[in-house]
Amino acid sequence: MASLEAKTVLITGCSRGIGLEFVKQFVHLPTPPVHIFATCRSPEKASELQQISKDYPSVTVIGMDVADTATIDSAALQVEKILAGDGLNLLINNAGLAVREPSIEDVTEENMMSLYKVNTVGPLLTVKRFLPLIRKAAQNYGKDEYSASRAAIMSVSSKVASINENKMGQYYSIRCSKVALHMVSKNLSIELEADKVMVVNLHPWWVRTDMGGPNASTTAEECVRGFMNVMATRTKEHNALSYDFKGNLVPW
Ligand SMILES: NC(=O)c1ccc[n+]([C@@H]2O[C@H](COP(=O)([O-])OP(=O)(O)OC[C@H]3O[C@@H](n4cnc5c(N)ncnc54)[C@H](OP(=O)(O)O)[C@@H]3O)[C@@H](O)[C@H]2O)c1
Repeated sequence: MASLEAKTVLITGCSRGIGLEFVKQFVHLPTPPVHIFATCRSPEKASELQQISKDYPSVTVIGMDVADTATIDSAALQVEKILAGDGLNLLINNAGLAVREPSIEDVTEENMMSLYKVNTVGPLLTVKRFLPLIRKAAQNYGKDEYSASRAAIMSVSSKVASINENKMGQYYSIRCSKVALHMVSKNLSIELEADKVMVVNLHPWWVRTDMGGPNASTTAEECVRGFMNVMATRTKEHNALSYDFKGNLVPW
């Protein structure tokens, strides 16, 4: 089975759920990254993540709220200092918010705007700030290969963002914010063609986390194990597209 060999990785939203599971699985790869930047809003409260960083010195916990550009900037400065001239191979936009909206009666301006800020604008501004480091990785790690081990942006989206597969309605804020995230990814893939940076959306389905709840069909462990394999096996032909954790293409 193909394995990820990114030397440097940054993941957002690592305090719990899928983000925390990414960190757990990265440290156990056959060739683990030299640096795993695990960002979260409140490092002092992220006790499980802090314990992992004590056990694995490759893990650096960094405070970052994707809805606050000042914290994105200060996180990037810390990462730049640690990388000391090296690039960032893989950025995983995982942090996200969801709200329950069974009907239009439940939609509020506040929900629409806060989900757009965290699920769409946050990933875009995170990419914008870290792009010089991603471009540096693209230059340093060979010119021709589209791969998550070289230079890539992976954004955790949601199957509910597939317009084609929307058979039940509901969930306006999450659906709209993640659809917009897909356009961010598509745009980035075009702008970053010259650097051959790969941009892919990852779809978890329904996962047993605080967001997914206890009745969800998949564990975070199974979902992230699938994502690790999907990331390791994406190449140029998969660029700008969306895949679930089993590697199936998810239609727009
Ligand atoms: N679970 C599912 O069934 C499911 C399905 C489809 C898509 N997803 C997607 O999967 C990703 C991870 O979700 P999850 O299931 O792991 O959810 P989760 O358990 O609720 O965790 C969400 C994570 O996002 C972080 N976060 C929220 N707002 C943030 C902000 N402004 N800045 C930085 N971090 C922020 C949270 O940090 P705090 O601890 O500080 O709140 C937490 O670490 C999300 O993008 C979500 O949309 C999940």
